Amino acid sequence: MSKRRVGVLMGGTSAEREISLRTGEGVAKALESRGHDVVRVALGAGKPADQAVREASIDVAFLALHGRLGEDGCIQGMLEMMGIPYTGSSVLGSALAMDKLKAKEMFRLHNIPTPPYYVATEADLLELEALHGSFGFPVIVKPRGEGSSVGLTMANDLGELRAGLESALDHDRFALVERFVKATEVHVGILDGRVLGAIEVVPKKGLYDYSAKYTPGETEYILPPRIAPTRTRGVMNLAERAARALGVTGACRVDLLVTEGENEYVLEVNTLPGMTPTSLLPKISAHAGIDYASLCEAILEGATLHAGAAPRRSASEERPQSGVTFRKSDLALVQPERKVV
Ligand SMILES: Nc1ncnc2c1ncn2[C@@H]1O[C@H](COP(=O)(O)OP(=O)(O)O)[C@@H](O)[C@H]1O
Ligand SMILES: [Mg+2]
Repeated sequence: MSKRRVGVLMGGTSAEREISLRTGEGVAKALESRGHDVVRVALGAGKPADQAVREASIDVAFLALHGRLGEDGCIQGMLEMMGIPYTGSSVLGSALAMDKLKAKEMFRLHNIPTPPYYVATEADLLELEALHGSFGFPVIVKPRGEGSSVGLTMANDLGELRAGLESALDHDRFALVERFVKATEVHVGILDGRVLGAIEVVPKKGLYDYSAKYTPGETEYILPPRIAPTRTRGVMNLAERAARALGVTGACRVDLLVTEGENEYVLEVNTLPGMTPTSLLPKISAHAGIDYASLCEAILEGATLHAGAAPRRSASEERPQSGVTFRKSDLALVQPERKVV
């Protein structure tokens, strides 16, 4: 058992503060249940983040933050400077994944399909019709750097597009206008480069918006997804490539769209996915036989400093073994009975 003092960093100042507090409490309780010395470090409560972390005297940080200043590389950079190892991705991986525009540019560089899009700013509202041109409808409008579907809308005509852009631009200086893809939505869970499994997300009212994400009963989750096992494996492989393209490490969740035809698209990679006991990554992990507390411990064991460190040869070579035992072959290929969770 680790004698290190583990700080669970939660809260923060982003639009996802409340979700982060729930993630943090779940993780803290789970780690305590396994005997870890845990301290809850709530950020964004008046004190500067570095002061709150310093005062907590922690040896390692479990990041339970979501969104801006938590998931985008800023906290990661602060912890690098303080010499405190942390869970999840490096400064660069975090920043790339959080920036929907830069992430899409990386996907295109790596031949990872992502829905067609263009970028719009406040100034573009004056010439919107010309900018949109023959792009067509419907489209999805989203801020460049938010999560949890904050500021995200669907638009079916120029009027809705304008309204959608105004709302997205309330959250960011740049907005993405993306072709709406009618598809089955699949999220893939990955831990240290190993695919844990996939889950199908079925919002009852259509769009997987903030309310569909966080209101119990508004979305059905089915795992494994109702697509052919060979295709599921292809989707998992694509998710893993997307995470690698951004240099994402540790635990992550990749959101994808799988069309009825041949196409699969990566929407985004979440480097600090929701980790409440009922969040999607824990659901995927439980289906693969790894319970919530074991998942939290496995993530904690991956905590590291990235800047200036020699590259890790492989996660399993360096990391102490926990009670969690799984191999890629055990996980990605198993197809336990399908269920709605
Ligand atoms: N191009 C698209 N076509 C269809 N649905 C989309 C598209 N982009 C986003 N969505 C829907 O909106 C949700 C949130 O979008 P996403 O890009 O994952 O941003 P967020 O960071 O807010 O989760 C997705 O889970 C999906 O249901
Ligand atoms: Mg998403």
